[in-house]
Amino acid sequence: MATTKEYRLGEFTFPRGWFMIATADDINSYKPRQIRFFAHDFVLYRGRESGKPVLLDAYCCHMGNPLGAKNTTSYVVRDNGGTNIEGDCIRCPYHAWRFGPDGKCNQIPYSKDPIPESARIKAWRVVESMGAIWIWYDPEGGAPEWDAPALAEWDDPAWVTPKWDNVGMLAQHPQEVVDNISDYAHLGPIHGSTVDRYENEFRGHLAIQRQCGGHRTLVAADGTRSILHTITTYHGPGVLISDLTGLYDAKLLIMHTPVEDGSIQIWHSLVVKSPSGAAKAGITDAVTAAQFQETSLLSFAQDFEAWTVKAPCINGMFVPSDGPFMKQRTWYKQFYNPRAKERDYLDRCEGVYVPKGVVPYSEATVA
Ligand code: FES
Ligand SMILES: [Fe+2]
Repeated sequence: MATTKEYRLGEFTFPRGWFMIATADDINSYKPRQIRFFAHDFVLYRGRESGKPVLLDAYCCHMGNPLGAKNTTSYVVRDNGGTNIEGDCIRCPYHAWRFGPDGKCNQIPYSKDPIPESARIKAWRVVESMGAIWIWYDPEGGAPEWDAPALAEWDDPAWVTPKWDNVGMLAQHPQEVVDNISDYAHLGPIHGSTVDRYENEFRGHLAIQRQCGGHRTLVAADGTRSILHTITTYHGPGVLISDLTGLYDAKLLIMHTPVEDGSIQIWHSLVVKSPSGAAKAGITDAVTAAQFQETSLLSFAQDFEAWTVKAPCINGMFVPSDGPFMKQRTWYKQFYNPRAKERDYLDRCEGVYVPKGVVPYSEATVA
C-alpha cells in the first residue's frame, strides 16, 4: 500500500465527499459504537427520541474517556438499563458529563457552575439512506457540495430491497479502487466481459463509465438478454452506483471509505428489479435477487483479489488502448484539494474519452 502523498493527489490526506460508515442495522439506541475512519475515532449511535443517527468525536473533552467503548461497570451505565445513551444524548461513563447530538455538553452533574462554551466535542453531519449511514467528510469543514446518496428503487416495492455485504478491509489506497472506473482493459481478463462499446466521461463530481457486451456470468445463458449494459457512476470519490441491464435490471452499489492513509473499508449491495416482473416483488423474487447479488459479489471479488495482492500503481506504464487513467486521476484530485482549485482540475479532465481502437458507447448499435 502507498499513501496519498505518494500518489501526489493534493493537500489533504483524505478526500471530500459522502462516505458510507455503517449499515443501518449496525447501530441502535442501546449500544453506541466506536468506529474509525479517516484515521479518526468517532462514536456512532441512534438517538432514542428521534431515531436519528448521531456521530460525534469519540473522546470526551473532559478527560478523554471514549464515549462509545464497551463499559459494563460504570454506574452511569448500570443505573440506566445497561446503556449510556439517554434520549438523543450520550453520557460519559467516567464522570457522567452528558453531550447532546450537537456535541455540546449539556450537563455536568457534580458542578454548579455554568457549563463552559468549550465543553463540546465535534458533531459530524450524517444522514441515513438506503439502509446505511453516510458522513459528509470535508477537510475544509464546508457544507455538502452534492446530495447524499439515495436511490428511489431502494424503497420501491417493484424492486427487491437487499442487504449490504460487508466486503471488508483492503490494505490499498482508494486510488487503486477508483482506477477501476477507467480500467477498460481489465473487463475481459478479470470479469469475462467481451466489451463491444466503451467510454468514460468526467463531469463535475461525477466519473462515468458506459460499456456493453457479453459477460460470462451476469447475462442469460440461453441467448436471451445476452448483452450486459453497465452505466457506472462515481458520485464523488467513495460512492459508486452502477445501472446494470443484463439477466435482470439492477443497481449495483459499491462503497469505499478510507480508514487509514492507505486502507479502506468496502461494502457491496445490489438492488434488483423484481425478476418475475411483478409490481410487488415476492418471496421468489427475493430469492432470485439474492442469488443474483451473490453472483455480483463474486464478480466484485475478482477485482478484490487483484487489488489485495497488487503493488501500488504510482507511475503506470499506459498505452493508448488503455482507459483514460490520467484524466480519471486528475478528476480524483479535485477532492483532495481546496474547493478553490476544483475548477482547475475539472478544466483538465472534463469530457468523454474512448480508448484507442474502441467503439464509443454512444455510437454502436448492439442491443
Ligand atoms: S472523561 Fe468524560 S466525563 Fe470525565
Ligand atoms: Fe472491475
